[in-house]
Amino acid sequence: METDTQNRPGPDSARGDQILVWDAAVRVFHWLLALTILGSWITHELGVRFMEWHMRLGYLALGLVVFRIGWGLYGTRHARFGAFLAGPAEVAAYVREWIAGRIHARAGHNPLGGWAIVAMLTSVTVQAISGLFNSDDILTSGPWRPAVPGAFAERMEWLHAANFNLLLGLIALHLAAITTYWLRFRINLVLPMLTGRTDADPDGAISGQRLWLALGTAIVAGLLVLILISAAPEPDPADLFF
Ligand code: HEM
Ligand code: HEM
Repeated sequence: METDTQNRPGPDSARGDQILVWDAAVRVFHWLLALTILGSWITHELGVRFMEWHMRLGYLALGLVVFRIGWGLYGTRHARFGAFLAGPAEVAAYVREWIAGRIHARAGHNPLGGWAIVAMLTSVTVQAISGLFNSDDILTSGPWRPAVPGAFAERMEWLHAANFNLLLGLIALHLAAITTYWLRFRINLVLPMLTGRTDADPDGAISGQRLWLALGTAIVAGLLVLILISAAPEPDPADLFF
């Protein structure tokens, strides 16, 4: 676990030079994920004519999570799970600092935010995987629906609907936390997610972006999702309505 993402003492953090903390891959991943989740929601709301797009966006969400898991293992410094998954003592200490108002700009995710990110990534994964078995019982079915017994498919349908509410709750919490950092501590977390740069301790800077590694990881993630979809069994013609 990395311990070098510590807070920088108060006013200095605003004066220091901007340092690179989020590589381009993390940033593209983040905004693409946000758009994908929004798009999946909208396409479902728009009705059956858009369900093909709903499923495509769902595959993209799955690919993004697979990419992020790889990047969390060997990506740049602050992107790694080992750098932002803190133990209970560190989380408790952070919460005490938060309550006392002693929070400053830092390089990387904070100990509490790290776990919120894991919760969001898990929820997106559950959403995309349960979608593979889901069906509207009319026109659209996830590709793996024909491979599973009805009772399992029903559980997946329930999970797809229930977990979406959980995901919405986590996103609301995410946005509320980001707003609070600005209102209470005057820390802008959004700009670094756009530019990659922040004004935390210079020791927290990342040395490079590893773009080729990120591209390779994205290609492998995409191929894995394609294999998952194309390995699905053909639907039984008796189940097709048209
Ligand atoms: C569907 C909506 C969204 C989802 C699922 C989502 C998910 C995530 C995830 C997974 C991360 C971790 C990034 C990483 O380490 O790879 C993250 C970080 C972040 N997100 Fe979002 N996000 C969403 C919307 C937004 C929006 C609309 C904003 C801006 C207003 C935003 C601002 C941020 C910021 C600032 C961080 C970095 C927090 C930090 O510094 O620790 N997110 N988000
Ligand atoms: C991770 C992104 C996804 C999100 C945010 C999402 C969201 C939703 C939501 C909110 C519903 C309505 C649930 C309900 O109230 O019954 C739904 C239904 C559905 N989703 Fe997804 N979904 C995603 C991924 C997928 C994937 C990957 C597939 C299949 C490949 C899929 C297939 C379906 C199907 C077939 C329905 C049923 C439509 C109906 O009964 O009206 N979804 N999805």
